[in-house]
Order: sequence, then structure tokens, then C-alpha cells
Amino acid sequence: MARILITSAIPYINGIKHLGNLIGSQLPADLYARYQRGRGNEVMFLCATDEHGTPAELAAAKASKPVAEYCAEMYAVQADIAKRFGLSFDHFGRSSSEQNKVLTQHFAGKLDEAGLIREVTEKQVYSNADGRFLPDRYIEGTCPNCGYDRARGDQCENCTKQLDPTDLIDPRSAVSGSTDLEVRETKHLYLRQSAMKDQLDAWIDSKSDWPILTTSIAKKWLHDGDGLQDRGITRDLDWGVPVKKGDQDWPGMEGKVFYVWFDAPIEYIACAGEWAEANGKTDADWERWWRTDKGADDVRYVQFMGKDNVPFHTLSFPATILGSGEPWKMVDHLKSFNYLNYDGGQFSTSQGRGVFMDQALEILPADYWRWWLLSHAPESSDSEFTWENFQQSVNKDLADVLGNFVSRITKFCRSKFGEAVPEGGAFGDREQALIDELTRRIRAYEGHMEAMEVRKSAQELRAIWVAGNEYLQAAAPWSTFKEDPEQAAAQVRLGLNLIRLYAVLSAPFIPDTSARMLSAMNTLDTSWPEDAGTALAALPAGHEFTVPDVLFAKITDEQREDWQSRFAGTRD
Ligand code: MF3
Ligand code: ZN
Repeated sequence: MARILITSAIPYINGIKHLGNLIGSQLPADLYARYQRGRGNEVMFLCATDEHGTPAELAAAKASKPVAEYCAEMYAVQADIAKRFGLSFDHFGRSSSEQNKVLTQHFAGKLDEAGLIREVTEKQVYSNADGRFLPDRYIEGTCPNCGYDRARGDQCENCTKQLDPTDLIDPRSAVSGSTDLEVRETKHLYLRQSAMKDQLDAWIDSKSDWPILTTSIAKKWLHDGDGLQDRGITRDLDWGVPVKKGDQDWPGMEGKVFYVWFDAPIEYIACAGEWAEANGKTDADWERWWRTDKGADDVRYVQFMGKDNVPFHTLSFPATILGSGEPWKMVDHLKSFNYLNYDGGQFSTSQGRGVFMDQALEILPADYWRWWLLSHAPESSDSEFTWENFQQSVNKDLADVLGNFVSRITKFCRSKFGEAVPEGGAFGDREQALIDELTRRIRAYEGHMEAMEVRKSAQELRAIWVAGNEYLQAAAPWSTFKEDPEQAAAQVRLGLNLIRLYAVLSAPFIPDTSARMLSAMNTLDTSWPEDAGTALAALPAGHEFTVPDVLFAKITDEQREDWQSRFAGTRD
């Protein structure tokens, strides 16, 4: 039994995620976790909410709530939706946890001991009205280049020119609109990533099986321009992990917090500690996943994320871990995704454009979405959600192919043999040919799943469903029955066993439907089909079953048009 640690990039706390966020990380991570559990491996699948930083503060201010209260509420909302989407985290943690605070301060202390932290005094814009320093992007003003009057302090959205806040004409606070701003000196901690360049380079070179997309992004940051830059890891904010060295105060850093991108990946580790606490486990129980000196040396660690997250996971977080000099488990395989677009444009959280997770579930059960999203995962390039395509995939793959197969075979059996697996004769050539095809395809499916090739896995699974349908069409037990009821019975026995087989293979994609299929087949046997022939004999003659309700309803043109117009605009 292998041990597999899986993390998904942790979603920002500010608001419900859209379907593009979901397919960019959490959903494919769940597919992989469910598959590995299905194969009998020991899995630790972790995710959390990313709760610190200015975006969380501002979202709370907008909701007129104290930020801690806002985060607690949004955490509950996100946890509930994740559950309803079938995301099977072993633990869904929070980056604002006590565990993450302790661990983040611990890492900072270790990095300091290793001489990898330097203090830098900088000038930053302070807003007297807001009583705080403003990050560059929260200063607005007129662009000196194009005259756009809502340019941000880091960049003008209109002409794309990179700016410094001091370049802006008539600068004002994006928080309050106040123009009472001044430049003040402030001290920050920098992580000396440049000193770790060779170590990081060597580590990336040791990952020969990483996809080009991943290594090329990492190498670009390592070697382009001035090379790897030292990175500020603290901020002048109230909300976040207070800056300390371990449990010691850090002179001169009072009232400051760590930068959100410093503490967020550390939450991957802290989350395992939260898991232990929530489940009455010991430190040793979570450390065996994360400490190579405490059992994690035989763990395979896989990370899932959108492409914009790659530099943080290939350079920044590894720099934190390597720099600590401690034996923490480092990522073995990193799976990154491109973007999913929505109907001719981008999904956008700030503009409320697209379909959000809560809205999706108001329309249809999770499995409809899971299937479409996974079978159209933006792997080799960006992909696009359109309602036409969604309707087509659901109606063809789920309703016509899988749903119809299950309904036909169970209903036919009920009408001719009753609700139990019929005995019948031995299998003939046609059955053997099907078993051979399934054997080949199941091995291919396993290969794609192991390689985290999400679309290819979906294609193979669909081909496995199609093979059963084609068999049924060709064998035509409804005709055979008239001449040779024995043979028809054998065909039906095979068909009923295929339902169980499909339920097991399909569970990573459509877990709720798989559970319904298993319950209709009245079995708890979820064993993986190592051998297709054996798997198709799991339900013996005489085994009782029931005909399930329709597994997937077709999407009508009317529904499609209705949703199309309902989601054409933007959310309030
Ligand atoms: N919240 C970030 C995003 O959605 C991801 C953080 S991943 C972690 O882009 F590594 F920081 F945990
Ligand atoms: Zn401009």
C-alpha cells in the first residue's frame, strides 16, 4: 500500500469560488484522491481557506464585519459547498489556525537562524484617514501615461504600464477614498532567496518527471533578468500571523504580520496538525506525513494548482522549507492547470461573471458539473465553458451512454427474470471480446489516472461506458430471449455486473451517482477490477437488486436558454 499526500491550492476566503477556480485545483485533486483511495492506497488529502492579507480585510470591511468574524462565516460557507460538491478532503483547514501561526513563526525563526533573513527599511504610503499603510494596489489615481483616472499604484489597468504609487497623479486611498496620504519609512523582513538559488536550481533539476509547463516557469524565475529576487515576507497590516521568531518577539517588527503568501503554503503542513487535533490523533500521526525523519520518506506528495500559483510552489515555498534546514517532506509531483473561460470571456470573482459553486448546485446535482468540468479540464491549454457544450456532454455522456445503459439492463431484467441476477449459460465469444476490451481500457484508464491526465482519464472512462452499450446493442438480449433465454440470461448477468464495475471505475468522477448505482445493485463490494473477468462475476446468480430512478435527466433546450440568460450578466 502506497502513502499519498495530496494538497490543493487553498482558496482565498473572500467569497464563493466560481467553476473556474474549482476545476483549477480542488476538483482534479479530489479526482486523484478518490482514485488513489479506490486503489487501496493510504491517502491524506488536505485543503484549507487562505484567510490572511488585504483582500480578506477589505472583503470584511465591505461586509461591515470584523475580519475574524467574516472569515469564520465564509469558512463555514466554503466548507459546506465543498462538501456538497463531493470534495473529499481528509481535512479542510484554515490558514488562520493556531497551528499555522505557530508553524509560520517557527519557520521564520529557523530562516533567521540560518542567516536567510535581512531587514530592509522602505518608504511606503501611509493613509492618515485609514490609520494604516496602503499596499500599492490599494492606492488609486490618474495614470501619468494615459490619463486613466482609476489607475492602481502597481499598474494602470487601461494602458498596462507598471507604476509606482508615487507616479500617480492625485493619489487617493482605494479603501476610503481619502487623499490625506504621506510617505513614511517602515521596516520589513526579506527572505534571501537569492542566496538559495543554486540549491533551488539543483532541486528542480532533480525533478526530471515534472511537466515542461512547470519547470519552464520555475527556471524562468530563477534565471531571467536579475534572477531570483529576495522577497519581502512581512506587511504592515493588522490581520495575519504576527511577526515573531519562533515564540520570541522580533525587535522592531511589532504590529506587523507575515505576508499572506509566506504563511499560506505553510498551512499545507499546519492543516495536517489541524486534522490531528480534530480527529483525536497525536503529533506523530500527522508528522508521519510531513517529516521525513518521522516516516514521511516513503510518502509521495502531489500538489494541485492553477498556473499562476506555480512560482510560489516551485520557488518560494521550497525556499522556506529548504532554508529551514529541517527534514520536511517536499513536493514530488506538481500538477498545474490553465484557465477555464466562461462563454466568450473570463470567469471573474470581482465582476461576478460566470457560474459560482453555490449557483451551480442550485441548478443541478454535483455530478453533472464534476463530469463536465473534469472531462474539459484546462490542461494543455485554456478551455471554455459554454451552455451548449455543457448540455451536449450531459445529455450524451451521462444520460444517453451511462444512464441509459443502467436503465435498460435493469428494466429488461426485471421484466423477464425479476429483480435478481439470472443464472443463464456460459459466456461466449462476444462476452470474451468485451472482457478483453475492458481489460485493455481499464489498464489505460489506470495509466492516465496515475499520470493525472484528467481529460484522457475521462475519455477512457467514457469509452468504457460506450463498450458496454455497444455490447448490449449487439447482444440484444431482448431478441435473444425469444430463441435462447439461457443465453439472454447470461448476457443480462454480464450487464448487471457491468453496472457494479462502472460504479467502481466512475466513483472518482461522479461519486454520488456511483453510490446510487452500488445501492441499486445492492452491493458493498467496491473492489477495484484488477481482473475484468473476475470483476464481472462479483454479483452471482440469485443476487437481488432494484431498478434505480433515472440517473441523469437530460437538459432541455428550454432549460439551457433559461440558464444562459440567467447567467449572462454579473452577480450582484
Ligand atoms: N489562495 C491562493 C490562490 O487562490 C492559493 C494559495 S496556495 C498556497 O491563488 F500555497 F499558498 F497555499
Ligand atoms: Zn495608463
